[in-house]
Amino acid sequence: MGKVVDVCGIIGYIGDRPACEVIVKGLKRLEYRGYDSAGIVTEEGGRLYIKKGAGRIDELAEKLGFLEMPGKRGIGHTRWATHGVPNDSNAHPQTDCSGEIALVHNGIIENFAELRGELLGKGHTFKSDTDTETIAHLIEEELKSSSNFEEALRKALKRLKGSFALGIIYTGEPDRLYFVRNESPLVLGIGDGETFAASDIPAFLEYTNRVVFLDDGEYAVITMDSYVVKKLDTGEVVEKSVQEITWTLEMAEKAGYPHFMLKEIHEQPRAIKDAIHGNREIIRGIAEEIANYDRIIFVAMGTSYHAALVGKYLFQRLAKKVPIVEEASEFRYEFEDLIDDRTLVIAITQSGETADTLAAMKLAKKKGAKVLAVVNVVGSMATRIADLTLYTHAGPEIGVAATKTYTTQLTVLTMLAIELARIIGTASEEHLRRLEEELIRTPELVELALKHDGALRELAEALMDSRDFFYIGRGVGFPTALEGALKLKEISYIHAEGLSAGELKHGPLALIEDGVPVVAIAPSGKTFEKMVSNIEEAKARRAFVIALGDSKKLEKVADVFIQMPEVDELLTPIPYVVPLQLLAYHLAVLRGNDPDKPRNLAKSVTVE
Ligand code: G6P
Repeated sequence: MGKVVDVCGIIGYIGDRPACEVIVKGLKRLEYRGYDSAGIVTEEGGRLYIKKGAGRIDELAEKLGFLEMPGKRGIGHTRWATHGVPNDSNAHPQTDCSGEIALVHNGIIENFAELRGELLGKGHTFKSDTDTETIAHLIEEELKSSSNFEEALRKALKRLKGSFALGIIYTGEPDRLYFVRNESPLVLGIGDGETFAASDIPAFLEYTNRVVFLDDGEYAVITMDSYVVKKLDTGEVVEKSVQEITWTLEMAEKAGYPHFMLKEIHEQPRAIKDAIHGNREIIRGIAEEIANYDRIIFVAMGTSYHAALVGKYLFQRLAKKVPIVEEASEFRYEFEDLIDDRTLVIAITQSGETADTLAAMKLAKKKGAKVLAVVNVVGSMATRIADLTLYTHAGPEIGVAATKTYTTQLTVLTMLAIELARIIGTASEEHLRRLEEELIRTPELVELALKHDGALRELAEALMDSRDFFYIGRGVGFPTALEGALKLKEISYIHAEGLSAGELKHGPLALIEDGVPVVAIAPSGKTFEKMVSNIEEAKARRAFVIALGDSKKLEKVADVFIQMPEVDELLTPIPYVVPLQLLAYHLAVLRGNDPDKPRNLAKSVTVE
C-alpha cells in the first residue's frame, strides 16, 4: 500500500506527445483531491508558455486554451490554497523575475515571509501572495552565484523550512524537468521514451504503471528517456528500484486504500505536521491580538464543536481563561445581548461554509466582537467574515466524517493555547516548551495509534451486531468520548452516546447490561483513578469494556486494552481519537455501509 497523498496535485511530462494533452488528462485525474485553481506551463523553443486561473479544469481548459499550448515538456498543477486566496495570480505555476524559471508546489513553506522580505530587499518583484513564488525568486537569486541550475536549486532548497513537493522547469535546460520531494508526496512514472512525475499515481497511470517513489529529501532530474534521483543535501545519487503498480485507477485515487476515510485517517501524521508548519510563524501574532479578551466564546457544529470543547480545556488549563463553548445553532438565540466589543468569538469550521456557524459569526461581528476563525478551506466564507484566521492545513477531506480536519483543529488550538499562556504568563516556560516538544511528536504518536488497525478490525467483527455503544471520558478526554460516539453514529448507524464518565451513575448506567460495549478514554493524569472506578462500575453491570490508555492497570480491569503512547494529558485528544475513528470505520464497512458517504449526511451543511 502506498503512502498517503495530500493537498495540491502535480503532474509533469517530458516525451514525444503534446505535453498539454497529457497534463490536462493528468489534472483531471487529480480532480478528486479537491482544488480551487489550476495551471500549466509548457516550453517550446526556449520559451515558457503559462496558463492558469481559478476555477474548474474543464472551464479553464476552454477559457484559456490549455489544449493549444505548444511543447513536449511541461508541468501542471491543481491548487488547493494554503497561502493567498484562490485567484488567477495565486494559481501555479509561479515564476521568477526573468520568467525563465517556472514551478509548481504542493505543501507549505514555513519561513516564506522572511525569505520574501530578503528577496524584496534584493530587488525581486512579486506577482502573487503565495509562498511558492518565493522559491522561484530564491532559485533565481542563487543562480547568480552558482555554476549551474542544479547547484542553484539545491542551494535554494536548503533554505526552505516546511513541507514541499515541487515541479520545476527552466528555459536554460531544454531537455529536462526537476521534481523535489520533502514531506509531500511525489512519484515518477517511467514510460518508453517518456517520463512522468506526479503527486499521485492516477495522474499518469493510463500511460505507465512503472513507478519510482521519491523519498523525503530527494529530487529527480528527468529527461524523456532517463531519470536520476539525488539527495537534496549532498547531491549524491540514490539508487532507486522501479515498482509495478497493479492498482486500478479507482484504487489509485485512494492511494490504494479502499475508502477516502481510511486514507484520510492515515494522512493524519502528515496533516498534523502541516498544521504545525503552517502556523508556527503566525501563531504569536494571533495570540497577541486576542490575549486581552476575557469573554471568549467558541462556536462550532459537529466534529468542530468537539474540537472547541477540547479548546476550552486547553484555554482553561494553560491560559487560565474560561471560555464558553456554544453550538453555533444555539448561539444566536442565547447570546445576542451578551456580545460586545470585549468579546472574542472563536469559530471552528472545517469547510468555512456551515450555515449556523456563519450566522453566529455574522452576529458576533455586528455586535462588535472580535472574530477568529479556525478553518480548513482557504478563502471560504468564514475567512471572509472573520477578523483573524488560522488555517488547519489538513488538505481536502473527501470522506463526510471528519478525521484529519479534527486532529489538525486540535493541533492549532493547542498551539494557540500554549502561545496565549506564554504571553499572559500563566504557565512556566519549561512546561510550555515541553508541551511544544510533545506536540511536535504527536504525528509519531498517531502513527503508533494507527498500528492498532488490525486489532480494531477484529474487535469490530466481534461487536458488529451491538445495538448501542457508550463512550466515556473525563476532563479533556470527555470531548474524545463525544467524538468517538459521533464517528460511530455517522457511519455505522449504530446508536452511540458519548458521556462524561461522572454522569454514568446519574442515568446511563440503567442502560448498561450484559455485553454492552463501553469505550473508556483513560489516559494517566488527574482523573485516571476515577476513570478506573467508572470502568469498574460498568464492569459490575457486565459491560464489555474497551479501555484506551497508557497504564497497564487497564489491562486488568478492561476486557480489551488499547495501549496508547504516553503523552501529556492535554495532548491526548490527538492520538486517542485515532483508534475510535478506525473502530467506527471498520464497523461501518463490516455492516456494509459506505463510510465515505453516510446516509442523510452532508460534508458541509450550508442550510440552517
Ligand atoms: C457536517 C459534517 C461534519 C462536520 C460538521 C461541521 O455535519 O458532516 O463532519 O463536523 O458539518 O462542519 P464544519 O465544516 O463547520 O466543520
